[in-house]
Amino acid sequence: MSAPEDYAEEAALYRDALVDAAIRNSVTCLELGSGGGNNALFLKERFTMTLVEPSEGMLAHSRALNPECEHVRGDMRDVRLGTTFDCVFVHDAVMYMTTEDDLQRAIETAFVHCADGGSALFCPDHVKENFESSTDHGGHDGKHGDRRAMRYLAWTRDPEPDDTTYTVDYAYVLREADGTTRVEHDRHIEGLFSRETWLRLLRKAGFDPKVMPLRHSELEAGKHEMFACTKAAITSAHKASVIDRLRRDVHATVGPGYEARIEWLAEMHREFTSEPEVYVERVVEDVQQLFHDEFIDTDWPACPVCRRHPMWLRDGAWGACDGSTVPLGELRSTK
Ligand SMILES: C[S@@+](CC[C@H](N)C(=O)[O-])C[C@H]1O[C@@H](n2cnc3c(N)ncnc32)[C@H](O)[C@@H]1O
Repeated sequence: MSAPEDYAEEAALYRDALVDAAIRNSVTCLELGSGGGNNALFLKERFTMTLVEPSEGMLAHSRALNPECEHVRGDMRDVRLGTTFDCVFVHDAVMYMTTEDDLQRAIETAFVHCADGGSALFCPDHVKENFESSTDHGGHDGKHGDRRAMRYLAWTRDPEPDDTTYTVDYAYVLREADGTTRVEHDRHIEGLFSRETWLRLLRKAGFDPKVMPLRHSELEAGKHEMFACTKAAITSAHKASVIDRLRRDVHATVGPGYEARIEWLAEMHREFTSEPEVYVERVVEDVQQLFHDEFIDTDWPACPVCRRHPMWLRDGAWGACDGSTVPLGELRSTK
């Protein structure tokens, strides 16, 4: 339906969003639902592309266009390639996820194939908040002496606003090489989810997602958005957990007022640490250091046995001098 050159502008936007969301060098890219390979035609200039697509016809088309890319027949809900990529790209094929369960499975596929520090980009045609009924038309004449031609009308509407789908009816006028024309009708049922649902499912999988406007010369500003995700080795769940446990210990022992500094340290170390256990130790150590250096409590957190020195964190627990331990987040008031 679309000619490869139509994709140059948008593919550049996807490339930049993938590179920007990653915190590792982006060399390899997996596309889930790559169709005829139109985006891949441009993305392969920047990445080594692996293309997953369930339709043999689409794969054949894409193999002809992108012979240097690896092609795999598969469904984005369950394909498992046994390796990871610096980036995972999911373009409009994600619209075929029509239930929350299918969408979650596709997101999980992207997550398990995304390397730590890598990125993933999801580009649904619509989210619930910006969906509007519309009509669109287009088509192409054959090239290089091919006398065939096609024009289409696409009618997009949401007959059941309370469910997770909308409908696109396509009417195609197909001109054959002998000059005869025929009309075909095709109906696509596509998925429609709220921004909040998208963000919730992406976070549940372990991604850190950001909503990004899709600024394209042929699209109305503010009507299209994509979800650019980072797969940080230290996820926002790791960060929230250490903040929560440290806050509880600090509240119980020295009181409130240090939340912003704990949060700042927890964010700062995220960027420079790749092991969750080491991350917790570094944040805790820095909070201790802060309390000692600024004379907030030079023994924090004081050993409950001798009260003469701080306890140190080992394996997620504070250790006292008699060998007893208290898990991080479970200190009791010493006042
Ligand atoms: C509109 S086309 C994609 C065009 C593509 N963005 C391009 O650049 O050429 C949508 C594709 O999604 C694929 N698709 C549908 N369900 C899928 C699934 N469960 N997993 C992966 N791909 C799927 C279809 O086979 C179809 O090729």
